Amino acid sequence: MAESRQPRIARHKAYYTELEPGRTCLWCGCGRSRSQPYCDGSHQGTGFRPVRYTAAEKGEEVLFCGCKHTKTPPFCDGSHNDLLADYPEDDPGSEANRAIPEAARGTGGRAILNGGCYVFSTERAPRTERGALRYCTVIGPEFGSIHQSQFHFETGGGDPPVVAFGERDVVLFFTGGEAEVTISGRAFTAPIHSGVYVAPGEAFRVAGKAGAAVTFLASTGPRANAPEWLDRMPDNFDAAHPERVVALDPSQRQGMANRYFQMLVDKSVGSTVVTQFIGHIPPSKAEPHRHLYEEALIILTGAGCMWTENLKAPVGAGDVVFLPRKQLHSLEATSPEGMLVVGTIYPGDNPAINY
Ligand code: FES
Repeated sequence: MAESRQPRIARHKAYYTELEPGRTCLWCGCGRSRSQPYCDGSHQGTGFRPVRYTAAEKGEEVLFCGCKHTKTPPFCDGSHNDLLADYPEDDPGSEANRAIPEAARGTGGRAILNGGCYVFSTERAPRTERGALRYCTVIGPEFGSIHQSQFHFETGGGDPPVVAFGERDVVLFFTGGEAEVTISGRAFTAPIHSGVYVAPGEAFRVAGKAGAAVTFLASTGPRANAPEWLDRMPDNFDAAHPERVVALDPSQRQGMANRYFQMLVDKSVGSTVVTQFIGHIPPSKAEPHRHLYEEALIILTGAGCMWTENLKAPVGAGDVVFLPRKQLHSLEATSPEGMLVVGTIYPGDNPAINY
């Protein structure tokens, strides 16, 4: 007879594992193995079974579930976040954290932290003009990104140019003003704090409603060096994905311990590789953790601090944090009301997966 219908929680996060090409292993599903994340036969009599997994021929990095509550065994799907009443936290006042110095902000508006992580101030950045748009590069190959790029735009008066990023997925996020967005000939209205999806090969134009100023960020995956400027709007709107604007909707919030997030642009809108979400962080410092995706975090409201192993930097509204894959980090919200942030992850479809 089975001892229990709940697996034992081996640990509350995933096991990062580098698998050799073609290697076959047995993932422990009961949580009792002493050779985590692998099976050692301890499941006998529990009713749980291990799961066999064979790595790809070129080898693979995987995140095996440690909590044993994943719905996608043997891999972590973020379910470990739902097993605790409180998101795992770290004490910013600990002796080790008090010894971590603040990184200086460079003239380009960047405070460089460990491992290529940085905090970028969109307000301090020098800009380039292109017709009615002023823009700067927030994330890109020149600043160390491998997968994604991000550009910050401000509209001015006059005719806005047509922007394209080739055969890339593009995700816009509107930080100021209500916008009229045309995507390859199809018109949309984008309210403040909405996300917009532009499919590979399409182009877009952004203008403020009734001539008002608009600010927005455009993220691309894969990365791009710079925007392309087209002479005219192409007529190649991908009608397979007609809904492109995702606005804030409290009914779509998902809880994650004492935090919440809402998915904005994701596969339900058409992007299979870039994922955008908006989330609230209560006053707290997250336990240091890592992701297998590159991430850009736009700070919308509130203030706090970005921490890596040996450096930290204050963050506030208008800043963007760039996080390389696998970089240890922790974001702390210090405002009493917490912080509202927008994340763009690439490649990835689940911001709850970490290790
Ligand atoms: S460790 Fe189990 S779902 Fe993440």
